[in-house]
Amino acid sequence: MKTQAWRLGMGDVQTLPGSRHRPPLKRPIWIIVLVSMVSLFLVCAYVYPPQSSAACYVFSSRGCKAFTDWLPPAPAREYTDEEIASQIVIREILSTPPIQTKHAKIAFMFLSPGTLPFEKLWEKFFQGHEGRFSVYVHASKEKPVHVSRYFVNRDIHSDQVVWGKISMVDAERRLLGNALKDPDNQHFVLLSDSCVPLHNFDYVYNYLMYTNISFLDCFYDPGPHGNGRYSEHMLPEIEKKDFRKGAQWFSMKRQHAVIVMADSLYYSKFREYCKPGLEGKNCIADEHYLPTFFHMVDPGGIANWSVTHVDWSERKWHPKSYRAQDITYDLLKNITSIDLSIHVTSDDRKEVQVQPCLWNGIQRPCYLFARKFYPGTIDNLLQLFSNYTTI
Ligand SMILES: *[C@@H]1O[C@H](CO)[C@@H](O)[C@H](O)[C@H]1NC(C)=O
Ligand SMILES: *[C@@H]1O[C@H](CO)[C@@H](O)[C@H](O)[C@H]1NC(C)=O
Ligand SMILES: *[C@@H]1O[C@H](CO)[C@@H](O)[C@H](O)[C@H]1NC(C)=O
Ligand SMILES: *[C@@H]1O[C@H](CO)[C@@H](O)[C@H](O)[C@H]1NC(C)=O
Repeated sequence: MKTQAWRLGMGDVQTLPGSRHRPPLKRPIWIIVLVSMVSLFLVCAYVYPPQSSAACYVFSSRGCKAFTDWLPPAPAREYTDEEIASQIVIREILSTPPIQTKHAKIAFMFLSPGTLPFEKLWEKFFQGHEGRFSVYVHASKEKPVHVSRYFVNRDIHSDQVVWGKISMVDAERRLLGNALKDPDNQHFVLLSDSCVPLHNFDYVYNYLMYTNISFLDCFYDPGPHGNGRYSEHMLPEIEKKDFRKGAQWFSMKRQHAVIVMADSLYYSKFREYCKPGLEGKNCIADEHYLPTFFHMVDPGGIANWSVTHVDWSERKWHPKSYRAQDITYDLLKNITSIDLSIHVTSDDRKEVQVQPCLWNGIQRPCYLFARKFYPGTIDNLLQLFSNYTTI
């Protein structure tokens, strides 16, 4: 309201030179008003130097925020009983830091159809760091054959996974549930059978543990592969403006893992209304459920990028997969030096969204892991491992 009053005031002042037939007596008052307005403007401009806030260029973003605070809040819709229950549970979990145990561990959760081709590489990565990690394997097709002692007896009860369907999210939740049983697990990394480590263990451990956010990929894509997959059946809880997209390969802190366990409301919306073929859309639950959910319940708690690198630059239906001859020191150095997160929208504009990867406010390389590597790359990777992971 006051914004409007202010603008009207400015308008009056601006029309002043044109108003020639005002009684001369009133002129001094208008001059005083004009002078005080100009002075006020100058003082404000000095105290709050303008930043890049487009809409209110007169004042700084701080000034803008103050103005919007005065406006009455948008009429809130009435929440359902389930939503209120969900909001309370989530707020309570977020405001209760997890119990600090003496031996904080990272849970490495592998989602794979069967045998993992890179166990020997991961063994090199884990070696010497016993007690600071735990491994979980969800094999959806066939019982894996393990070649590393770190993976033996680490299979969890698994079920079938159909690409694009909610069974993928179910497998993620199953891994989280099993890993949460160990109170020492403080951070949870989801990896595929084609993922490899890009750094040594200490680097990864410190990167994930000494920050309080989850590295969950999340961006707004107005195109057909983003919000085009939204279904109005998700209303009232999930509005189209809140629908988000992101790669499924997350790494999350314990509180967020508990929140995922606690959620049934939003999960069930995605189970029912985000699936391939529904309403002629090709909604893929594992690309939308967690990004949308965390964007709604804790947007500041997620990094908006994933620590697992994948190369979509060829713009094909599948990302680039590396073969043995691609594996060079240069390739790995290139991937580990990327410190910008890039998203491209799927509409005709193909808008490129670029953001620096900020870790506790400092720009750092984005990636700790990478995919997709063919099994045949194992020998080259083993040979290069101690070289490319020296930092
Ligand atoms: C993370 O910790 C910093 C202080 O270390 C705090 O300012 C920030 O609000 C925290 N963020 C979250 C999501 O808890
Ligand atoms: C992630 O993006 C949301 C907006 O969608 C923003 O509010 C949040 O601050 C971002 N997270 C970080 C850590 O910058
Ligand atoms: C590494 O990056 C440089 C500079 O962007 C590029 O010229 C080179 O081809 C890349 N090498 C590999 C192996 O990807
Ligand atoms: C690995 O690093 C060592 C020492 O920096 C170097 O001598 C060796 O050539 C490197 N090996 C490869 C395969 O790049």
